[in-house]
Amino acid sequence: MVNYEVTVYTTNCALATTINNVYIKLVGSEGESNRSWLWGFKGSLALFKGDVAHFTVSCRKSLGTLFLIELDKQHFLLFQDSWYPSKVEVRSPEGDTYCFPVHRWITDREVHLFREGKAVIAFEETHPLAKDAREQELIGRKKDYCWEELKEGLPHCIKGKSPLSLPPEVRFSYTKDIEFVWTAATGEIELYVKGLEKRDEPWTDIDAFDRVFRCKMTETSEYVEEQWQEDEFFAYQYLNGVNPIMIRCCKVLPENFPVTNDMVFLHGHGSLTEEIERGNIFLCDYKRLDGVTANTINGKKQYLMAPLVLFHKRQGKLMPIAIQLKQTPADDNPIFFPTDSAYDWMMAKMFVRSADFQEHELNVHLLRTHLLAEVFAVSLLRNVPMVHPLYKLLVPHTRYTLQINILARLALISEKGVFTEFAASGGEAMFTILKRSLSSMTYKSLCIQDDVDERGVRDMPNYYYKDDGLRLWNVILTFVKEVLSYYYKTDDVVVKDSELQDWIQDIFEHGFLSQEQTGIPQKFSTVAELIKFVTMVIFTCSCQHSAVNSGQYDYGAWMPNTPISLQRPPPTTKGTKDHIMMQTLPDISTTVKGMSTLWLLSKESSDFVPLGQYPEQYFTEGFPRKLIKRFQRELLQLSVDIKIRNEPLSLPYTYLDPASFENSVAI
Ligand code: FE2
Repeated sequence: MVNYEVTVYTTNCALATTINNVYIKLVGSEGESNRSWLWGFKGSLALFKGDVAHFTVSCRKSLGTLFLIELDKQHFLLFQDSWYPSKVEVRSPEGDTYCFPVHRWITDREVHLFREGKAVIAFEETHPLAKDAREQELIGRKKDYCWEELKEGLPHCIKGKSPLSLPPEVRFSYTKDIEFVWTAATGEIELYVKGLEKRDEPWTDIDAFDRVFRCKMTETSEYVEEQWQEDEFFAYQYLNGVNPIMIRCCKVLPENFPVTNDMVFLHGHGSLTEEIERGNIFLCDYKRLDGVTANTINGKKQYLMAPLVLFHKRQGKLMPIAIQLKQTPADDNPIFFPTDSAYDWMMAKMFVRSADFQEHELNVHLLRTHLLAEVFAVSLLRNVPMVHPLYKLLVPHTRYTLQINILARLALISEKGVFTEFAASGGEAMFTILKRSLSSMTYKSLCIQDDVDERGVRDMPNYYYKDDGLRLWNVILTFVKEVLSYYYKTDDVVVKDSELQDWIQDIFEHGFLSQEQTGIPQKFSTVAELIKFVTMVIFTCSCQHSAVNSGQYDYGAWMPNTPISLQRPPPTTKGTKDHIMMQTLPDISTTVKGMSTLWLLSKESSDFVPLGQYPEQYFTEGFPRKLIKRFQRELLQLSVDIKIRNEPLSLPYTYLDPASFENSVAI
């Protein structure tokens, strides 16, 4: 007889303990053990949350190289509980230790198969049982994770009406669930107590805005309140606010934006034509919003513009120099300048900020991070088994994404959702904008290295999103390159990896609706192509989401800086004496609904996992684990550098400090 020492780790989280009877079977190249009851001296209390339990499994002869375990859990006295093991280690009689990552809930009486931690690509499998386990796993996953079309023209999403329809391992933890509900409830209760929730009249006093959530103000939101009318701050937000990817160098003025040399004053830096040639003129064009029918809120028609904004870079600063609020030039569509009356110029900027809110929330935040992250995750879960190196690399970057997106579909963009009811672009407009956004999205624009060149902003000073984002991209790229090159020694391995090819094919088809003009790969032919794409996936799920998510409350808490909607039409002439800013800004209930939602969406939960931390050890081999450590050291150095850079800044840029954001789209 030979003995195998089996060590079982139960995850330290609520409800992870089992008192049911658990059985294991060990499978190796030379045979398999009997199905053995894991019964130790602690009896049924061995598999307690956070505990490590030891058992012995005896066999008549050595099983050779172990590659699989089977676990099943049978009820105890008719009581069936749930169990969340993290891993099982087995020490063989030859002295070898095998590690089997589990990281999934076992709630039923079925037999569950788990592969040894060494990553294996499908065609490298040699044992028929290993091949079979791989196929069975994907058959099960394809039943658990199904695609669904929410609306024609949008990326497909996970089929599921509520978080409870998701398999337990991809749901929020108990802690996250409680905190999320608590945060949402406290925001709502505060508004209810203050009696603001149901008041649909306009504000009468601008100072009343900051009394809505007085105790929830942040340092940045207070700075915004002081600076929101300043031109320099207006422009700053295009570099380091929540929508830092819109501004681009203007090589030629759009025909529908007829600004001429004599209209703009460039403070002695030459003419507009000369400054365009020198690369000092920048443009934001909200043409995607053109012709969209604005929402009706509390029975009142709302207004949504599709502005064009021109900026001048001078002495290291970006300043707005012209704004046209509608796409088609006309007498009732004047071009506004900083030299106009303070009121005219301020109103023009306010309409731009409201348009930016819609563009940011729908395209930049929802589509380009949340919905894409969901596509990457669903495709991974359907096509790639746990033993695959890509699964091990990417699954931590999918944490909580499916549930947060289901909640967004239930509470934000559903028929009675907050966005549907209270944003200028809520309702049908929302889907029009999302469809337009998807069909104009490109692979290059998702890769910050290409994106900054394409937008002509590589040399823009004080553009911290760009500076930090480029460094993060390079740190992630190096890590991904080293990990994937370890498993994919040649391009041929990439081409022959059918699971990998299925993953990208599903992304192209279900995420980008097979639109070739997006430039999204339909297959991988080289290791380099794979590395770039996986870098983009990790960057999008972690860094990019933080850049466009974390500052939502900071920049939106002072509502006049980011009006969720506007309830009066834009000015059609200049020099009006009729000052109607307060009647134009959203009414009281719209404002407070928007603010409480932004507050909820900016709040981190306490079981937050920062970029590069992998508490669940999917990789068990020495080399990838060494690479993870190096990745973590590089991120730590970057975090230190960002903190030092931020010290002298009046408004520190923290959204891309890797210590402050998560591995995945989780909020
Ligand atoms: Fe988000």
